[in-house]
Order: sequence, then C-alpha cells, then structure tokens
Amino acid sequence: MEKLNKFTKIFKKIYYQVFIENFKEKLNYNFPLNYYRWDLIEYLIKKNNYSDYLEIGCDQDQLFSKVKIKNKTGVDPSNGGNVRKTSDDFFKDNKDKFDIVFIDGLHIYDQVKRDILNSVDCLKENGIILVHDCMPDNMSKQAVPRYRMIWNGDVWKAIVDLRQKEDLEIFTCSIDQGIGIIKKNKNSSILKIEKSINKLKFEDYYNNYKEYLRVISLEKFKKMF
Ligand SMILES: C[S@@+](CC[C@H](N)C(=O)[O-])C[C@H]1O[C@@H](n2cnc3c(N)ncnc32)[C@H](O)[C@@H]1O
Repeated sequence: MEKLNKFTKIFKKIYYQVFIENFKEKLNYNFPLNYYRWDLIEYLIKKNNYSDYLEIGCDQDQLFSKVKIKNKTGVDPSNGGNVRKTSDDFFKDNKDKFDIVFIDGLHIYDQVKRDILNSVDCLKENGIILVHDCMPDNMSKQAVPRYRMIWNGDVWKAIVDLRQKEDLEIFTCSIDQGIGIIKKNKNSSILKIEKSINKLKFEDYYNNYKEYLRVISLEKFKKMF
C-alpha cells in the first residue's frame, strides 16, 4: 500500500480541496454488520458450483485465505495471493478462464475500468465479476490523489462509466463498502448521464448514487443471483 507521510497527506488534501472539490456532506449506508465480501463469495460459489476464482489485489490475504474453492489465483505486485504481478501484467499473459473475479487492486478509475474489462474477457459463461469499494461515504475517501489511509478511491466512477454500456448488466450490492456486481448480459437499464466521467465530482455521486450504481440490498441480490 502506498506510504503517505504527514507532509504528503496535508499537501494532497489542500491540493484536492482547492483545485478539485470541497464538499462536506456525508452518506450513511448502514451496511449490514454481519455479512461481508467473503460471505457473498461463499454464497455465489455454493449456489453456482463455481470452481475457478481470481482475486486482483490481495494485500494480507484477509479475503484470499477465506475463499474455499478448487482453483484460486491471487494477483498482487506486493503482498499476498500467489501471483506477484500487477493486474495489467497478469492479464497480458493470462490464458485461464474464471467463474468469479474479485477486483480490489489499485482503486483508481481508469485502472479499475481496465481490470473490469480484462476480467470480462476471461470470464466463463455464467461467470460473475465483483468490485470492492464502490460506495465511499464522504469526499475524502474517494479523493484521487489519495490523502488518507482509509480509502475507497474513485472505483465508483468505473461503475458509472460501464453502466452506460449495452452489454454489461451491473448492480451494486449495499454491503461491505459497496460491492459492484457485473454479469456479461444485456444491460436492462442503461444509465444516461450528461457529464463526462472525468468531470464527475463527489457531489454528483452524493445526489445520484442510487441511480448511478443501481444499488440493491443483500436481500434483493439473493433473489436475483
Ligand atoms: C485493498 S488491498 C486488497 C484487500 C483484499 N482484497 C481484501 O479483500 O482484504 C489492495 C491491494 O491491491 C494491490 N495493488 C495495488 N496496485 C495493484 C495493481 N496494479 N494490480 C494488482 N494489485 C494491486 C496492493 O498491493 C494491495 O495489496
């Protein structure tokens, strides 16, 4: 994880607030306190009899070590998993196909978008892609450049961007920092937005996140998937 000393944090914070945005409102999602990403993954593996799992960004294997499945691939340039590469390098050479992909690497819009599209290309029929950290509750947690330790990044922008595509069906489940759910199906509710992705601010997210991300509860997710 990127090291941030006190000086860098203060400098980036001031930079962000002066030149990008300074919006103070916060969201309260009330994520369930007893259901996390590993529970969702276990549910999907059992329900669909999945055998091949890919995780992008493993850190200390907090999740990777909990996933019980026949074949596991974990990609991280620094820690955890079992493939020591960046996601871009991994996808360049990869020939394997996966049932379930969990994207949790570099939390910056264009990298997340690339990780999603590369995952789509190696997804099996009936496979599913999950994307962590889609629902920041305040401006600083999604600020790029990053200036705090607890950080979701602007992953949400990759979801908003791809919600405009015709060939991906995308929802966001309101658990564990927001988990994007992506299937290779026809988009049944194409998002239309006026602004370009790079002009979107946290204030836009704050006012529109339910529509932007197509947010669903865990109960609804389990009825649909
Ligand atoms: C938030 S942590 C992952 C946490 C883990 N998936 C979990 O569920 O607890 C993000 C990880 O992404 C890794 N990472 C950063 N840049 C990456 C990249 N370009 N490709 C793959 N992983 C990356 C970091 O080294 C870090 O370990």
